[in-house]
Amino acid sequence: METQTDHTFEAFISRYPTCARTAVLDDLRARDYARLDAGGHVYLDYTGGSLYADSQLREHMALLRAGVFGNPHSSNPTSRAMTELDERARQHVLRYFNASPQEYAAIFTANASGALKLVGESYPFRAGGNFLLTFDNHNSVNGIREFARAKGARITYLPVGLPDMRADDAAVLDALERLKSNADNLFAYPAQSNFSGVQHPLDWIEQAHARGWDVLLDAAAFTPTNRLDLSQVHPDFVSLSFYKMFGYPTGVGCLLARRATLAKLRRPWFAGGTITVASVQGDKYYLGEGEMAFEDGTLNYLMLPAVEIGLKHLESIGVEVIHERVRCLTGWLIDNLLALRHANGEPVARLYGPASTERRGGTVTINFYTPEGRAVDHRIVEQKASAANISLRTGCFCNPGGGEIALGIEARELSACFRQPGHEQRLTLDDFRLCIDGKSSGAVRVSLGIVSNFEDVQRFLRFARGFQESR
Ligand SMILES: Cc1ncc(COP(=O)(O)O)c(C=O)c1O
Repeated sequence: METQTDHTFEAFISRYPTCARTAVLDDLRARDYARLDAGGHVYLDYTGGSLYADSQLREHMALLRAGVFGNPHSSNPTSRAMTELDERARQHVLRYFNASPQEYAAIFTANASGALKLVGESYPFRAGGNFLLTFDNHNSVNGIREFARAKGARITYLPVGLPDMRADDAAVLDALERLKSNADNLFAYPAQSNFSGVQHPLDWIEQAHARGWDVLLDAAAFTPTNRLDLSQVHPDFVSLSFYKMFGYPTGVGCLLARRATLAKLRRPWFAGGTITVASVQGDKYYLGEGEMAFEDGTLNYLMLPAVEIGLKHLESIGVEVIHERVRCLTGWLIDNLLALRHANGEPVARLYGPASTERRGGTVTINFYTPEGRAVDHRIVEQKASAANISLRTGCFCNPGGGEIALGIEARELSACFRQPGHEQRLTLDDFRLCIDGKSSGAVRVSLGIVSNFEDVQRFLRFARGFQESR
């Protein structure tokens, strides 16, 4: 039983007419991502990692084959050639995000987590100061709380509420106002949640600044399908991973940092490449300026030109086109999933996050339910999806706060579990499942991206109908 029965492409286009303007992506998929359809894949894990185009690989390999590149930052010719390409990539990153090089530094890291760790370990947390963050952060943002705690800062989580999994605007402003202090205060949130797809307001950045806070915007899940314009919004720190934006290369991320705020970070150590002078006998070191002080050791230098190639690839399509395609498909996916009913009228799927395409991205997190209202174990869903050549992700996606809210797991249950004998130091995922017995410990995440098409969504909807009991 379904309330919406017309599953044709025409029905889709009549409901989401702007999708017709994104046809270039179908040509692109046929040309540059042909291996997807050749292998019969339904790729629905773009929030895990985007896919690369053949042309990106070709261009990068041609560049490496044609040149001789040595370790950068020396004056020999092969080193100079590499330095030049790496610095070009850095400038391109700043241009892509419309970040003035006077205002922002682009620091290359191994991934978004590397960017977040740089901020966490160097931020001047102290007693009297604050680390404020939303519940739906990735663990690599949550982990910053351990640096804050060690230095005596207060840690405060802002809840997000069901069903939309948004934070209450007034509660955010109230916390920013109530907690502000003369010490350094850091507010961290995801521009887009990798759990629910919620896009939190970028207005919070200036509202926090007006109250004396520094802002860390985790843009890892936002940048693949949205424009982040750093001439319009001015977060102090932005974390991202390039493979999430264009699939290749892995192993490179970035911290975009406002130079003014970067100046107050204090690195806990120095490393090769970060200093102007270090002395053994003099027991002294001098950190370099800007980016230099934050890039430890040898960069993943051969991969940085591939970052520029990836950015040009996105520019040649236009992130707005990708955004619109993903918005339309997300809307169709949600409309149809929520319309699915068992014979007794109960929903087949429950959604954790906004049910409309307003202020949300293409990450759709659900659980399937039996007609009796029991959640289908997400591990079974994953097994069945894999058998159908559908790549999706299940669990909590490194976003435990999102999971706890979505699945109704409460603080007292968690403390009881963590206090059980034997659980002080070690807790496996299976132990944890047993602890919160009777509740689902995870969910099913489907995420859309650069070359998602109508057929991908239709195949997932057909798969979803497999969980429907129709008598
Ligand atoms: C919102 C968000 N932040 C941070 C990360 C961490 O990225 P990485 O694993 O590339 O360091 C992810 C990865 O899924 C993410 O989705």
